[in-house]
Amino acid sequence: MNSSLPTAPGPIGVFDSGYGGLTVLDEIQQLMPEYDYLYLGDNARAPYGTRSFEVVYEFTLQAVRRLFEMGCHLVILACNTASAKALRTIQQCDLPEIDPERRVLGVIRPTTECVGSLTRNGHVGIFATQGTIRSHTYDIEIGKLHPGVRVTGLACPMWVPLIENKEYDSPGVDYFVKKYIDQLLSRDPEIDTILLGCTHYPLLLSKIRQHTPSHIRLVPQGEFVANSLHDYLQRHPDMEQRITKGGTCRLLTTEHPLTFNESATIFLGRNVNAEHVTL
Ligand code: DGL
Repeated sequence: MNSSLPTAPGPIGVFDSGYGGLTVLDEIQQLMPEYDYLYLGDNARAPYGTRSFEVVYEFTLQAVRRLFEMGCHLVILACNTASAKALRTIQQCDLPEIDPERRVLGVIRPTTECVGSLTRNGHVGIFATQGTIRSHTYDIEIGKLHPGVRVTGLACPMWVPLIENKEYDSPGVDYFVKKYIDQLLSRDPEIDTILLGCTHYPLLLSKIRQHTPSHIRLVPQGEFVANSLHDYLQRHPDMEQRITKGGTCRLLTTEHPLTFNESATIFLGRNVNAEHVTL
């Protein structure tokens, strides 16, 4: 166990490869404004979606360790790619050695738990990064919880770079949004529910809506993750007591803070003042 970690209560850590996790942070903060939050975006090394299992695991573990060193007892991986590729190994192999009392939670489980109540005909589509789709984590988890549901996943490798470059509304976006929707629906024309399995994608929600047949339900995951965290803290008062309650939110980025501030303002809809961190 790492005895140099701070033991006093601290903020909830929220991690993403870049800006995407801000869509989750926003929902969590709206539901539980009383807690302190520490967000870390590894923007200098984003996107993670096309990186190997080993690299995503290594980068995610570095971020988790840093959030622990900065006082967090609970870290949310607000990134599907990190949740798919790194979460289990961190929970099973690293936490027992770092500190068995600290916790790291992901975004895939809370999202898959809701699938049964969202689809009416049992045909579900998922848009996510290449890494998340190739890991088959969604298919496996949905298969365990809702065995009758047919899952069709599609990687959308162009969406995160467009979002990270603040391209939300150009003709190029229309092209790549329509392209992936058409591909997904050609694989299963009966899909009635599409999960946005990447925390960046809510930024394209209005474009995705525009190009998706109106009977199909589009599901961003932030709200489910926030509700699930709320339940978790009610069920684990020991952890809840290790979170400070000052209603603050500090943002850290591995990129230049001014670059981060510009985009984060769009994601959060308010001005932010990020700090630089190295991993
Ligand atoms: N926002 C992340 C996710 O939910 C990943 C984006 C990326 O870095 O490729 O998967």
